[in-house]
Amino acid sequence: MPVFVRIVLLGSAVLLLVLTGTQPRTDAASPVYADVAKIFQKHCTSCHSGARAPDKFRMETYMDVMQGGRNGAMVLPGDPAGSEIIRRVKGASTPRMPKNGPPWLSADEVRVLEKWVENGAPEA
Ligand code: HEC
Repeated sequence: MPVFVRIVLLGSAVLLLVLTGTQPRTDAASPVYADVAKIFQKHCTSCHSGARAPDKFRMETYMDVMQGGRNGAMVLPGDPAGSEIIRRVKGASTPRMPKNGPPWLSADEVRVLEKWVENGAPEA
């Protein structure tokens, strides 16, 4: 193999490593906690944070979200239809969330949340 081909190949491999290593994963097909955290911060943590969080359900960290509140787990990894957090944003359980809506979450935001739960609610 000519040297310049090797250099190009090596360069591409290094570039690929750097890109995949440093880019945040925002692929809607495999959302991670960082993706859903943005949605929670935009629509949920104004109420669901701190000592006065409704039903003691805080949504500030991955641990908070996975732990749930006074009524137990709100996220059942792998089971979006059974997860209260999904049921609430779709209005399948009431009161629908965010409590001060409408506006409700956009269809895209709901899809990201559902996909995240379906994929097992990965932290990263
Ligand atoms: C304006 C304040 C407010 C906002 C914003 C809000 N919530 Fe709530 N949330 C509440 C209140 C109050 C309750 C308790 C309601 C009840 O059951 O009567 C609640 C209850 C819940 C529950 C049930 C908790 C349990 O232990 O049973 C879930 C799940 C939930 N919210 C998710 C969300 C999500 C997800 C968002 C963002 C998309 C959100 N909430 C935004 C006020 C809010």
